[in-house]
Amino acid sequence: MLTGPNASGKSCYLRQVGLIQLMAQVGSFVPAEAATLAVCDRIFTRVGAVDDLATGQSTFMVEMNETANILNHATPKSLVLLDEIGRGTATFDGLSIAWAVAEHLATEIRARTIFATHYHELNELASILSNVANYQVTVKEMPDQIIFLHQVRPGGADRSYGIEAGRLAGLPTSVIQRARQVMGQIEKHSHIAIGLRKGNASSNSVQERNGKSRRVSEKTADLSQLDIFNS
Ligand SMILES: Nc1ncnc2c1ncn2[C@@H]1O[C@H](COP(=O)(O)OP(=O)(O)O)[C@@H](O)[C@H]1O
Ligand SMILES: [Mg+2]
Repeated sequence: MLTGPNASGKSCYLRQVGLIQLMAQVGSFVPAEAATLAVCDRIFTRVGAVDDLATGQSTFMVEMNETANILNHATPKSLVLLDEIGRGTATFDGLSIAWAVAEHLATEIRARTIFATHYHELNELASILSNVANYQVTVKEMPDQIIFLHQVRPGGADRSYGIEAGRLAGLPTSVIQRARQVMGQIEKHSHIAIGLRKGNASSNSVQERNGKSRRVSEKTADLSQLDIFNS
């Protein structure tokens, strides 16, 4: 699981890993002081968002098609590079899809995967699944700016820095202040991570394996974060 603020270098890191694997397997040098690589059967990537207007597919459908293709064809020997899965839809279903996809890759397919995401909630998976580890692209936070260090270190980002990015880009101060206020409210009342961890992280995967996805969605609806705007 690879987290880090916008523009910190997650996508570049994914591409770099894919290229290094490819270069090594075609017999090339790799641009690294040292690299330990296994041979993989295929490299699967899902990077970037494009509308396929010609065939009438929305950005999100393209994303889901590509993700489905990966989940249906990856093997334990595949290298899977996923960039921001679940970004193309609303927060809760996007996060739910990202969670389920990551869980499936780790527990069912067991492919070597880098899953870049701005959903820092996914860091919870590492405390549930022994073959998941958290890494983050580090930044140095200064009072009025973020300095990108472009280094990947163990650990998970505890937030997404999206509002900081908006501020740096020049969104009006009142909009930034209001966004902070709304985020404060959402954080105060959201129990996504706690709910997933306490509630049914293990029973979820059992149910999914049995194909009873309906019960899973009923359980998910129990989570109190769905109530976030009530106060
Ligand atoms: N290792 C690096 N060294 C220098 N610049 C980098 C590095 N990684 C990323 N960048 C710069 O940061 C920009 C954003 O990187 P990107 O991978 O798109 O970020 P993210 O996917 O985290 O939003 C890149 O276009 C590049 O200019
Ligand atoms: Mg990116």
